Amino acid sequence: MVKEQLGIPDIIHNHGKPITLPELILALQIHPTKAGFVHRLMRLLVHCGFFVTTRVHINQEAEEEEAYDLTPSSRILLKDNVTNLSPFLLAMLDPVFVSPWHFLESWFRGDKVTPFESAHGMSLWDYADQKPDFNDSFNKAMTSDSGMMNLVVKDCKPVFEGLDALVDVGGGTGTCARIISEAFPHLKCTVLELPHVVANLPDNSNLNFVGGDMFQSIPSADAILLKLVLHALSDEECVKVLKKCREAISNKGKEGKVIIIDIVIDEKKDEHEITSAKLFFDMLMMVVVTGRERREKEWEKLFVEAGFSHYKIKPLFGLRSLIEVYP
Ligand SMILES: C[S@@+](CC[C@H](N)C(=O)[O-])C[C@H]1O[C@@H](n2cnc3c(N)ncnc32)[C@H](O)[C@@H]1O
Repeated sequence: MVKEQLGIPDIIHNHGKPITLPELILALQIHPTKAGFVHRLMRLLVHCGFFVTTRVHINQEAEEEEAYDLTPSSRILLKDNVTNLSPFLLAMLDPVFVSPWHFLESWFRGDKVTPFESAHGMSLWDYADQKPDFNDSFNKAMTSDSGMMNLVVKDCKPVFEGLDALVDVGGGTGTCARIISEAFPHLKCTVLELPHVVANLPDNSNLNFVGGDMFQSIPSADAILLKLVLHALSDEECVKVLKKCREAISNKGKEGKVIIIDIVIDEKKDEHEITSAKLFFDMLMMVVVTGRERREKEWEKLFVEAGFSHYKIKPLFGLRSLIEVYP
């Protein structure tokens, strides 16, 4: 497991002002023989936009020295930031996730379902079930990603208004559901998850956890939320889950809905860099699970096959969109 990190963004943040190279080396508490390497690492990270350099006064004579400061890319890795994505990054760089990339050739030539299975001999979800440390770091990664739901709830209030019951399917350890239930206290939220993810998580008055399998049965509700769940599934698996979702909202008639927060590829509208990131996620979905990233037409085909009649897409910030799907 990747547990250690230098924590350079936090060091600069805690320094309270741009940090010079000698100050950074001191704060890093590294071995003296490594001091000479730090500027090379920082040179690359500045070049890539994680940090910027600026000039600071270093004494009363107004002598100046170069110093490093944070950028938006390093700010999202700060530990005390609401949207701290460093657990997400750490999990994605974990050897458990990295080693399957080395199995691409044998996967292409063989009959294993995913490169993850070629590397570890089992699916990602079985691996998480069997390795508590990995399960923990994966759930923390998803929790850190779900911190951004605060922004979604603020920007997309009408999506959740008027609902009495919502099930977050594959909702991890409940970060999204908790944020929604706090913003809409009358809304009863349920998280349906694999048993090893929700074991021992405490319920409260409007948030409860159910261990189960989304392919078998989904508790009934006015709305079903699927955040980053369908992109981890093949088309056939998506249609199965979407059909279960349709059954689960059937009591609400035409007003029931499925709320999907996921990636929609749109090469024409998106900036080049955004499309690159979405296509890398597509590769990640190919390497670690059976899923894929989809264009709008590909999403639409799944909705139609699962028996839904219409949908609305709203782009969110970053790589995600919010799709409301109606029976
Ligand atoms: C990519 S994670 C998304 C977690 C959460 N929705 C989020 O965005 O933070 C996919 C989740 O689906 C859950 N999952 C996988 N197979 C499942 C199944 N058959 N039934 C219920 N949950 C499942 C996994 O345990 C995992 O937490």
